[in-house]
Amino acid sequence: MKAIIPSAGLGTRFLPVTKAQPKEMLPVLDKPIMQYVIEEAAAAGIDQILLVTGRGKRAIEDHFDRSVELEQNLRDKGSAYLESVRQVSDLAQLYYVRQKSPLGLGHAVHCGAAFTDSEPFFVLLGDIVVPRCDILPKLQAVYEQTGASVIAVERVDDEHLSRYGIIGAQPVAELEAAAQAPCYRVNALVEKPSPDVAPSNLAIMGRYLLTPHLMELLDCTKPGAGGEIQLTDALLALLDAEPLYAVEVEPESSFDTGNVLSWLEANITLALRDERYAGELRELLAVLMSAGSESTNGK
Ligand code: G1P
Repeated sequence: MKAIIPSAGLGTRFLPVTKAQPKEMLPVLDKPIMQYVIEEAAAAGIDQILLVTGRGKRAIEDHFDRSVELEQNLRDKGSAYLESVRQVSDLAQLYYVRQKSPLGLGHAVHCGAAFTDSEPFFVLLGDIVVPRCDILPKLQAVYEQTGASVIAVERVDDEHLSRYGIIGAQPVAELEAAAQAPCYRVNALVEKPSPDVAPSNLAIMGRYLLTPHLMELLDCTKPGAGGEIQLTDALLALLDAEPLYAVEVEPESSFDTGNVLSWLEANITLALRDERYAGELRELLAVLMSAGSESTNGK
């Protein structure tokens, strides 16, 4: 199957670090964010991936290309890093297209219309990391049962509703066994609602498996929230023609790396799960926390 990864965003929440480098290339531990996303797609058997990029994103292409000189250098030194450098360029067949104007997520996805043609396709947002790669298989399982579009959602607190696309939905118990998670049939969608109009607290979390009709709808989707062409609005239009399902995933399965604090949280959480770093980091955090409590005690 194919996937589209929109990655044209300017990374303004990370300025100045993103002035001359793509936010998708910021590290989480020892890998750039985008490598986690591509590895997740590859783990789900997706072998053709379109990255929708923009100006200033060349470093992404370079990272997933062969680096013959570097490989030779590592080979000559007998370096243990050779294998990890080599395998990055073999993860999947990557294609690139530029979104020439920042017209919104829906517009970015529509830049892949010729790539997906008349096939169903995944969309993976380029700033969400799913380290255990356990969400796309759930979407696939529901798609196999229904032949319909499926999106991943997670529960968020009321004060965060206006950061997300929020769905209204009815539980569908028959699909839970396949997805091994609560499943819903979607009956409403609102992009970035205020809490008083949000239809639930189930938020779209950046993983979609979509039918070709969605691409046709994007072609005529008008600008919505924030003056941008929204993928959520095309999904709302899809409800008139086809069913749309949602799989509820655990908040711990994904990390939004799109702002400094959540990026930091992703780094610390993943380091604590990684035996290379966990022991020493735990000790370091304990020292820092006790130093912090001493200084807040005025010592
Ligand atoms: C996008 C989508 C939104 C979704 C969110 C997940 O918003 O438009 O529906 O909930 O990603 O992170 P963005 O974060 O690009 O503003």
